[in-house]
Amino acid sequence: MKRRNFIALAGGGFVAAAGAAALGTGALSAGMPAETLVAWQGPGAEADPRRRAVAYAITAPNPHNLQPWMVDLREANAITLYCDRARLLPDTDPFGRQILVGHGAFIELLVMALAQQGLRSEVALWPQGRLPAQLKDWDQRPVARLVLSPGGVADPLFAQVLHRHTPKVDFDISKPVAPAVLQQALAQASAGPIKVAGTVDEQRLPALRSLCWEAAKVELLTPATVMESLRLTRVGPEEIAAHRDGISINGAFPRAANVLGLLDRTAPPREGSPAYDQMMSRFGGHSRTAMGFIWLATPGNTRAHQLEAGRAYVRLQLKATELGLGLHPMSQALQEFPEMAAHYASVHQLLIGKPAPRSEADETVQMFCRIGYPAAEVLPSPRREVSALLRA
Ligand SMILES: Cc1cc2nc3c(=O)[nH]c(=O)nc-3n(C[C@H](O)[C@H](O)[C@H](O)COP(=O)(O)O)c2cc1C
Repeated sequence: MKRRNFIALAGGGFVAAAGAAALGTGALSAGMPAETLVAWQGPGAEADPRRRAVAYAITAPNPHNLQPWMVDLREANAITLYCDRARLLPDTDPFGRQILVGHGAFIELLVMALAQQGLRSEVALWPQGRLPAQLKDWDQRPVARLVLSPGGVADPLFAQVLHRHTPKVDFDISKPVAPAVLQQALAQASAGPIKVAGTVDEQRLPALRSLCWEAAKVELLTPATVMESLRLTRVGPEEIAAHRDGISINGAFPRAANVLGLLDRTAPPREGSPAYDQMMSRFGGHSRTAMGFIWLATPGNTRAHQLEAGRAYVRLQLKATELGLGLHPMSQALQEFPEMAAHYASVHQLLIGKPAPRSEADETVQMFCRIGYPAAEVLPSPRREVSALLRA
């Protein structure tokens, strides 16, 4: 069976290569359907400042690129943000913590984009009370309400918004990150109650790389969590254009395997299958090539802390973009499903010298990221249209 797969895939690879030659080299590379990337050109001729701001905010980093945001603009001079409960990750993010970190990033970009247009935002988090601990109890209360008034100071980091992308590629191991560069990135982000720290210390890196890899294996080998990612994996331009969210895979090889019916997404990849090997080598490469790490911790783990962490995280990633540095979340060890418990404890011990948080009063690591200089091109990821998230 294994051998048959191999032969078939080798054939698929040949078909793909022949196709690429016929179509021109870019055609079967990772080129994305153009309409899925228009967000990265900004709001264009849109005149409404709030819609313009939303057009920037949708580029926010967010888990699995689910873009779980809904925005209500029906009240003048205000923007109300809701979470789209159809876009959660119950297996990898059972308490919605990471989803709310993504909302924080969205809020920060909104505020920056409004300031850029001379508008000041008064941000109220959880104006009708915060979402409960359990996802099953979540209702449609707003995450945040922004009230706008004239003012607002343009933020130098705004210049990076449309250039920011998450580098899901190996880093160049011949290019260390200088301690001074790390310090520049950290200096930017340390504000308010968020603790931002990092290391490029060769003594510390092996344990942290190994943590990333061991935690990745747990996510990939736990059926519920790997299936959650597989269900959100979009292979090839048709699927990417149909969904404009999730994990986009557009390389020639997986596309060919998909067309040939060799990419089974109804069950966890079988050990020894090409999909299994590819998934393992991707995470192995990311872990191994981490040239340093940066993490964000909050003094507690309230819903407000989670949003504040997202605001600080996107600023950090914008600063990294300005510095030409890749900043890539490795969130597996921070996932709160039972099988990950040992790594969730380790990540807290290794980074902040504390046990895993047990209550919202405990210091909590909210983001754990690898840093380095990308060894391959970093591509933008798709976004849905602004109109798809506006509440009528
Ligand atoms: C809370 C949070 C956790 C994330 N965790 C991961 C992760 O573990 N691995 C990863 O490759 N990207 C992770 N990301 C990045 C998202 O996958 C990325 O933002 C999304 O796919 C959109 O891509 P972009 O940032 O390039 O626009 C995370 C982002 C957020 C906000």
